[in-house]
Amino acid sequence: MKASILVTLLTLVPFSTQILVNKCEGVDSVPSVNIISNGLACEAPPCPVFLGAVAEMQVNFSSSIYFESLKPNITVIALGAVVPVPPNQQDGCEGILNTVCPVVAGETIDYIYKLQVYSFFPKIEFTVIFSMVNELKELVTCFSVDLLVKSKN
Ligand SMILES: *[C@@H]1O[C@H](CO)[C@@H](O)[C@H](O)[C@H]1NC(C)=O
Ligand SMILES: *[C@@H]1O[C@H](CO)[C@@H](O)[C@H](O)[C@H]1NC(C)=O
Repeated sequence: MKASILVTLLTLVPFSTQILVNKCEGVDSVPSVNIISNGLACEAPPCPVFLGAVAEMQVNFSSSIYFESLKPNITVIALGAVVPVPPNQQDGCEGILNTVCPVVAGETIDYIYKLQVYSFFPKIEFTVIFSMVNELKELVTCFSVDLLVKSKN
């Protein structure tokens, strides 16, 4: 009895921390992603992100290539418009929690990007495409996910 409860817990835990995100063209894997805004972890997309708060995007992945630097690239698709968003992090290496750059192929990376959800944003659902390239402009990781802007109260 106890053992079966433990097995259930162990198999449930990894799934509860990651959400389903969409794969990008040109990459064969999706990172393990969660998005936490205003203390609330996303359970399933569209992920709530709160106005005036930071939406913390946890992105865990295994890099298939070597990189010395990482450049985040954020694109938003909202109301039919494709809008590039200037990243607030110039070197993605600064968002890596578990190791430091340079990173060799096959290393597991725990990375966080803090997406600023300004209070003037419209309260709509939108798609965000998040990718990072290395110094040779090779794609290191990429995914897309739907977010829903909400007010805190
Ligand atoms: C990423 O890895 C860290 C450290 O292992 C873990 O705490 C976190 O839950 C993971 N996040 C996701 C979305 O997999
Ligand atoms: C950023 O990502 C978008 C969407 O995937 C892509 O169209 C664009 O070319 C990328 N920009 C750069 C500078 O890589």
